[in-house]
Amino acid sequence: MRIDIITVLPDLLRSPFEASILKRAIDKGIVEVHLHNLRDYSTNKHKNVDDYQFGGGAGMVMSVEPIDACITKLKSERAYDEVIYMTPDGETLNQGMANRMSLLENIIILCGHYKGVDQRVRDHYITKEISIGDFVLSGGELAAAVVADAIIRLIPGVLSNETSALTDSFQDNLLSPPIYTRPAEYKGWKVPDVLLSGNFANIDKWREDQALEHTKNRRPDLLE
Ligand code: ADE
Repeated sequence: MRIDIITVLPDLLRSPFEASILKRAIDKGIVEVHLHNLRDYSTNKHKNVDDYQFGGGAGMVMSVEPIDACITKLKSERAYDEVIYMTPDGETLNQGMANRMSLLENIIILCGHYKGVDQRVRDHYITKEISIGDFVLSGGELAAAVVADAIIRLIPGVLSNETSALTDSFQDNLLSPPIYTRPAEYKGWKVPDVLLSGNFANIDKWREDQALEHTKNRRPDLLE
């Protein structure tokens, strides 16, 4: 998979891809992440990428020209499955969306800033608008990193133990059951006996029951 991220703050987006699982996925050649500084596509002498709103009102708007130039260049080089815009009024990210996007070849992610982008970018280029939740960030960069992380870890070969993504919270619309590691007892706090029993049928049953109970208590909406 190839992910092209268009941003006015490429520096903010470097470190998430330089550590841990995402770095390993890149090093293994499973995913390529390319950051594009939108200012490089500005033709005005101050390298501006935003302007005042027509009709008046506070806040700047990201201009259509540099975004058009950047997306047009990328699209001339390869076909893209989706051109995604990060925005709080997009569809809220969930595990199902991450699963589907992990199967794509090439995607562009445009990070919004200021008041957002000129509507014509959304009308003519954007194929999917994603929010990471009902709150407003100061820009789309951190949200883009969240989306990229959620997608990349699901690509086969990225997680060393491939089953581990399958037992994540949300994978079957259930939250994960409690997990424990050694020591089996600490300060009198004990690990549930069933997990030490070696009876894997009982362990599976216990985990399923716990996952269901946990989901009923915390996220009953997932069971509807
Ligand atoms: N940009 C600003 N806030 C955002 C959010 N919640 N999700 C995606 N992009 C955003």
